Amino acid sequence: LSVYPKIAGRVKSITFAGSVLQELVEELLDTMRTDMAFARVPERPEYNALVFTQKIPEKISEHDDFIDALIDSIPLNSPALEEDYFIVNDSTTTPGFSDLAPDPYRFLAVKMKHNGNFYGWMGLVSFNLEEIFRRSELRLLDSMAEQIAVVITNSDLYRDLERFVINMVKSLVFAIEAKDDYTRGHSERVCQYSLLMAERLGLDEERTKILQWSSILHDSGKIGIPESILNKPWRLKDEEYQIIKNHPMKGHTILEPLEQLASSLPGMLHHHERYDGAGYPKGLKGKEIPLDARIIAVADTYDAITSTRAYRPAKTPQEALEEIEKVAGTQLDPDLVKVFKEVYTLDLAPEQGCSLEEQS
Ligand SMILES: [Fe+2]
Repeated sequence: LSVYPKIAGRVKSITFAGSVLQELVEELLDTMRTDMAFARVPERPEYNALVFTQKIPEKISEHDDFIDALIDSIPLNSPALEEDYFIVNDSTTTPGFSDLAPDPYRFLAVKMKHNGNFYGWMGLVSFNLEEIFRRSELRLLDSMAEQIAVVITNSDLYRDLERFVINMVKSLVFAIEAKDDYTRGHSERVCQYSLLMAERLGLDEERTKILQWSSILHDSGKIGIPESILNKPWRLKDEEYQIIKNHPMKGHTILEPLEQLASSLPGMLHHHERYDGAGYPKGLKGKEIPLDARIIAVADTYDAITSTRAYRPAKTPQEALEEIEKVAGTQLDPDLVKVFKEVYTLDLAPEQGCSLEEQS
């Protein structure tokens, strides 16, 4: 069973990529010299995997249905189930299994289980009845199934934790926006504009997710700015403006302990940098400014101009577009201003993931 270390190594590397399970099942098929190998996780279909050899398609047309039928036919009172597996050595002599396929087959399935949680089944099907499933095969399959169950458990914990952090952070943004009528909805709109630009720029899913969080959180540091300054109905004095300018650093300090948001911090920290280097907090210039921050800057500027502020009325979208074009190359990245103009639409569709409503 020299394949075991190889498989075990791979199992460890899984986070929650279903495709790795597919590869494992392929490995199983090769090693065990069977005709079909599968993993079925009913509540998480993204983990489902099925592979089969060339000769199978003639025998069974609906492979997935066949596997489902096999699993459905496992008698729940079988004594072997207490040991978390089920074997059919000859389908023709096993009640409930003889009419599932036109040809005789044998079938082995083990439970994917960890800490009392049952996730699904992993198994093999062979149409060669001259051999039988051996004890060693059962042991290997059983051990793989257990490891996969561990990985699924860990992924669930990771997802729960991630969701918890995200909801916590959304509550934080919500709290800031609740303090100030004028900025209500600002974070959500900046997020929506940013994601529209990300799509146009062809950013992949991972990059888009990072941008999603940095854009929704870009002003989270305002939680540390006195309300009296935030809500001031006239233009700010110089020293008040200096205090406002601390918000990206404050946001960074608040969110830094959250590992899950690490990649989203630069976009947030630098959203007030200017393309010409005259911004804050670091005075970064041009493409030194992280792309996410440059995207957020465009979205943020546009939304600020079109929102009513305590000290001035809102401008129309047309006026705002003209204004951001005027500062392209000085305040904003000119390429991204162009992108914004291309994707900008008056009836903005709500972008998934920008809402401050809690995710379940
Ligand atoms: Fe800001």
